[in-house]
Amino acid sequence: EAAEKGGYPHFMLKEIFEQPRALRATLKGRLDNGGVLLDELKQIKNLNDINKVYFVACGTAYHAGLVGKYVMENLARIPAEADIASEFRYRDPLIDENTLVVVISQSGETADTLAAMREAQSKGAPVVAITNVVGSSVSREADAVIYTWAGPEVAVASTKAYLTQLAAAYLLGLFIGQERKVLTSDQVTSVTQALRELPEQLEQVLGHAETVEKLAGEWAKREDAFFIGRGLDYAVSLEGSLKLKEISYIHAEAYAAGELKHGTLALITEGIPVVALATQSSIYDKTVSNIKEVKARGAHVTAVVFEDSNISQSVDQVITIPNTIPLLAPILTVVPLQLLAYYAAVARGSDVDKPRNLAKSVTVE
Ligand code: G6P
Repeated sequence: EAAEKGGYPHFMLKEIFEQPRALRATLKGRLDNGGVLLDELKQIKNLNDINKVYFVACGTAYHAGLVGKYVMENLARIPAEADIASEFRYRDPLIDENTLVVVISQSGETADTLAAMREAQSKGAPVVAITNVVGSSVSREADAVIYTWAGPEVAVASTKAYLTQLAAAYLLGLFIGQERKVLTSDQVTSVTQALRELPEQLEQVLGHAETVEKLAGEWAKREDAFFIGRGLDYAVSLEGSLKLKEISYIHAEAYAAGELKHGTLALITEGIPVVALATQSSIYDKTVSNIKEVKARGAHVTAVVFEDSNISQSVDQVITIPNTIPLLAPILTVVPLQLLAYYAAVARGSDVDKPRNLAKSVTVE
């Protein structure tokens, strides 16, 4: 097993550090100068008639679906929803042959996701699967498959699979936007170019691992934490919070930053650790106001922002990510959150790769 870990103490850390390679592999052959190539989608004959998109998945894959929803609306301008597979399948969803259902599953074997997919197909909806396992049940039954080429993921807590699911969602949104001519060729080129730069930028983010490890040493002493952000930053906050809970057992809440004052702001007390993601430029000032609200209540705030941000006066600690277009920020912002969860779990002595009560793939309901 030590050999399989390639010198890393845990599979999870190895897989976090494999992310640049996994992303390169997932993008490979799918980007060219003119835009996105997704021959896989040829199987969906009525792509031009699609008027609604549902992303359906469980756990971390559902969080990738939340990003997918934003991306689809932004790049393809089609109304999109993300839903939890075990909810979707039981609520008689309003879908038909013009609804594109995108199921996301690392293993391709999750029982709830499979059942949701069958429910969608029984209503005539075309299904695209985003999965990491060639030949998995989901891949065999879907109408079209976009494989994530993350390689085998061993740690129960998903990292590189999530990151490549995001990449697949960008490719899908961009492809549909391009095919339906919602985007100009300049817009397609600029997103394509930004996608190409991401693997190298990921390597830069991984260079902050030591800073995050020190921070995690402090977090490990706490029993509660918060993650806040707006828009795509909120979607990533949910994943950061889940990761921390799954492996360190620290209780965490992810809140849409503007919603905190409508809910649990009273739980922000002296010294409580908060990670604030603030990469979405159109709502940056609003997020900064929310950061000030939690700072005023004594929170210890770590901001995850682009390098050119001037947030440092308003927070206790800053983790920067290289500049990219805000739409693509999730690929970079999730990495410090994965590392934070990992190092906090290690500091607390958890069995990081096999957290209690969790299975890698849940093939029963
Ligand atoms: C399990 C795992 C989660 C995972 C979820 C969906 O509950 O513990 O980490 O996100 O299943 O798995 P899938 O293979 O469908 O992506």
